[in-house]
Amino acid sequence: MKPDNKFPFKIQDVKPEENKMLLEYFKGEFDGFVRVGPKGYFFPQKYRQEAANIYNMQIRPSDVFVTSYPRSGTTWTQELVWMVANDLDYEKSNAVPLIERYPFLEYSVTVHPKNMEKFRQENSYSEKKLGLLEFVCQPGTEQLAEIPSPRFIKSHLPLSLLPMTLLDTAKVVYVARDPRDVAVSFYHLNRLIRTQGYIGDFKTYWRFFMEDLHHYTPYFEHVKEAWEKKDHPNMLFLFYEELSTNLAATVRRVAKFFGKEFSDEQIERLCDHLSIDNFRNNKSVNYDAMKELRILQTGEQGFIRKGKAGGWGDYFDEEMMEQAERWITDNLQDTDLRFLQ
Ligand code: A3P
Repeated sequence: MKPDNKFPFKIQDVKPEENKMLLEYFKGEFDGFVRVGPKGYFFPQKYRQEAANIYNMQIRPSDVFVTSYPRSGTTWTQELVWMVANDLDYEKSNAVPLIERYPFLEYSVTVHPKNMEKFRQENSYSEKKLGLLEFVCQPGTEQLAEIPSPRFIKSHLPLSLLPMTLLDTAKVVYVARDPRDVAVSFYHLNRLIRTQGYIGDFKTYWRFFMEDLHHYTPYFEHVKEAWEKKDHPNMLFLFYEELSTNLAATVRRVAKFFGKEFSDEQIERLCDHLSIDNFRNNKSVNYDAMKELRILQTGEQGFIRKGKAGGWGDYFDEEMMEQAERWITDNLQDTDLRFLQ
């Protein structure tokens, strides 16, 4: 941490018994977890090293942030935003992978030094891979200090842990999704990504998610913080479900936000580019590079998965459905936020 960096929130270890139990399930973490600030946001220990650097990073007026709770459609939104903001530059979109176009601000906090060492060894036969590995796992603030404007930035941090000047200085696009679909999708990613290495079943995972024993939870606090700012002129709040049911209309909303105008044909072509089938096979956006670095397990499943709204029903038994219903209703009581169907 830089010496005069101030971070206004307390960072506390999670209870030792919870820590011990979680480490039995998440084999990609070795030291355990912390809770941050009054809302108790949950992170791996390594967050301590980055908290203040992120909170105090210099925001530039031309910065574009795409933020979300993980698995809410971030990647989809990133590509949509990038294409719109860059006047539909298909050539560059194809040539430069999304992970290079959008530094992931806090990814490094999930990469434990033991894993980093393992990844270095596994990629040691290729200078190119080693270079990409170092880039991807380098603290986002360091990556971002080096790159020219306009910068496109991915983050899953809630607004309160991002720089205070963010919304008054730069544009933020936040995307939210039904928490049941988020949980299913994040469960799969937690099994796929070796920095998490989850080995339990979905029911156990769902309990961790609902009880705020998981990265970036509490889920509702995260979404509500952004929802409260939805009318700020620099904030565009989207739902995964709206991209899913009417992508063209969402493209128009994004275009308006960035002051761009496109013809119907241009929008149609962009929607095709963003369709799940094209996305899954598009090496520039599908995170296959993370597979090649072996940060993601190699195998059938990829980072881009089903891409459906409402698929959660296949994973919830009756008891979980009732729990979910109650949990969602309770958490929506003090807000006009409603998830789209
Ligand atoms: P599923 O696991 O439910 O399929 P994030 O980018 O925030 O990690 O979100 C990942 C989720 O968005 C995954 O959901 C993924 O399949 C879905 N997704 C990614 N690209 C998509 C697209 N072009 N169309 C629809 N869904 C997409």
